[in-house]
Amino acid sequence: MSIQCDFSGETALVTGGATGLGFAIARAFGLCGAAIALNDLAEYRIEAACERLAQESITCRGYEADVRDAGAVSALITTIEAELGAPSVVVANAGLYPNTPFLEMSEAEWDRVIDTNLKGVFLICQAAARSMVRADKAGRIIVVSSTAAQRAIWGWSHYCASKAAVIMLTRAMALELGEHGIRVNAVLPGYVDVADGGRHLSLAYREGARRRPARPPRDAGRRGAGRADARVTPSGLHHWRRCRHRRWSECGPRRPPGRRSVADTD
Ligand SMILES: NC(=O)c1ccc[n+]([C@@H]2O[C@H](COP(=O)([O-])OP(=O)(O)OC[C@H]3O[C@@H](n4cnc5c(N)ncnc54)[C@H](O)[C@@H]3O)[C@@H](O)[C@H]2O)c1
Repeated sequence: MSIQCDFSGETALVTGGATGLGFAIARAFGLCGAAIALNDLAEYRIEAACERLAQESITCRGYEADVRDAGAVSALITTIEAELGAPSVVVANAGLYPNTPFLEMSEAEWDRVIDTNLKGVFLICQAAARSMVRADKAGRIIVVSSTAAQRAIWGWSHYCASKAAVIMLTRAMALELGEHGIRVNAVLPGYVDVADGGRHLSLAYREGARRRPARPPRDAGRRGAGRADARVTPSGLHHWRRCRHRRWSECGPRRPPGRRSVADTD
């Protein structure tokens, strides 16, 4: 399948772009003609990524910044504005997924995941949206969530919570930024075995999938109407929803299957 796209003359900022999905996203926008502002934590990895992109004639500048740090994010956007112009595409991709059982999770690890996956998205999106509004530019913001936003995975209580939260953040941003010509959407990738994160994720994911209950509790239907039950939708995703029938199996899909935007998903 070939995808037609033309982002010539545009600047695309990709956070966490040195590896994995972020790098692939940066490359895809670069191959469509965008100049890439590639953000990540470590300078040597940013440089290596930009070199790889340059080999495919993609214009790329690297920007070291921690998305959890408001000052660093503000400086990042100011520098990009000066060097490449205000970004018209922003992909809030930087994220972490350490795997720790809920009972063993430390407050520090909880904070690290929420600060990166949720606060980091807020900071980047707000700074970039302000830049687009200042430049009077239409823009697109893409938030990288995860299917873990819709399905609990063992050891990822912080990760699942953060990825679900960014979906609602996406909806709220879409509501407020639309009037400025900024479109905001989220993507929910399933498992992707990436070079750096993949091996760790692979183990965690397999373990989580093994322990995840595939069905609602056996007695869910006997508890009576109006209780929250889990069910598997036609897309294979689990939803916690209120069932007005006595038996959860009598509950049809919440919405007819079909195409819908992430902002509409509930
Ligand atoms: N790989 C998957 O299966 C999968 C599935 C669904 C969603 N995702 C999401 O996709 C995104 C990318 O994941 P990946 O699998 O490519 O992982 P990855 O570890 O390869 O890439 C994440 C990048 O983010 C960077 N990063 C982390 N914290 C940062 C910070 N504070 N500031 C700036 N950069 C930071 C890392 O240095 C790394 O380069 C994440 O948000 C992840 O949750 C991944």
